[in-house]
Amino acid sequence: MAATSFNEMNSADVVAERLTGRGADGPLPRFLVALVEGIHRAVRETRPTPGEWRRAIHFLTEVGHASDDKRQEWVLLSDLLGVTALVEEINSRRPKGATPNTVRGPFYRADAPALPLGASISLDGIGEALNVSGRITDLDGKPVPGATVETWQANAEGFYENQQPDRQPEFNLRGIFRTDGDGAFHYRTIRPAGYAVPGDGPVGRMLGAIGCPLRRPAHLHFIIKADGFETISTHLYDGDDPHLTEDAIFGVKPELIGEFRRAGKQKGWLLDFTFVMVRAKKERRAA
Ligand code: BEZ
Ligand code: FE
Repeated sequence: MAATSFNEMNSADVVAERLTGRGADGPLPRFLVALVEGIHRAVRETRPTPGEWRRAIHFLTEVGHASDDKRQEWVLLSDLLGVTALVEEINSRRPKGATPNTVRGPFYRADAPALPLGASISLDGIGEALNVSGRITDLDGKPVPGATVETWQANAEGFYENQQPDRQPEFNLRGIFRTDGDGAFHYRTIRPAGYAVPGDGPVGRMLGAIGCPLRRPAHLHFIIKADGFETISTHLYDGDDPHLTEDAIFGVKPELIGEFRRAGKQKGWLLDFTFVMVRAKKERRAA
């Protein structure tokens, strides 16, 4: 029997049959079929000319050329199109009351220094002082002692230390703390500024050209780990930031908004927050 001929209305089905017709099954063929459906629908609806489609391919080529081990333009594309946030969303659904995860972002360094409680992570002292304190509890409100609280943040101008290796001390505004017997931690820092995601690459230029907001509201990053609990990888957002409703990477959730309070004249700011961890699911034994 002759194969169904390819036309505008059945194109995605014909390709799906090609991809899976020999019995291929599993995550990769399923993902490819869904991807083909989405792209074919977009092409049908927006009707690019061959020249416009070549420009789209050229854009993807540029994204590849702009990516290396220091800069990941593909990750930025995924972040700015909300795909990273969606992957987080479907993989870390947590019970009500638990602290949600959000996008980790590209400025994390795995080698931040371990510091004693109360230490300052601001190595250049530039910015308005901020005292961060918090507690780690389980869903019943019981403290989690011995948890590691890893934090990193932008400076008062909205830049991470690894974006400005010539202007900021190495490891500025990064540190790892351990909660005390009451599940509490505290450290000193400066109040971070919001920032724009890199706009000088193909992704930022493309989205900037259509007026898409590239700003990130001010935030502190945290990764919290404790034996027997799901790791929390999240942000605390500055509740006073005017850009909270248009975060470029769709990371803001009401549970992650912190309240910065004045510590008193000349003394800077206070931020206090409770992170709520969920017990890790028991690993299932292979049958
Ligand atoms: C960040 O929060 O550091 C970040 C996340 C995604 C894209 C750019 C920056
Ligand atoms: Fe950030």
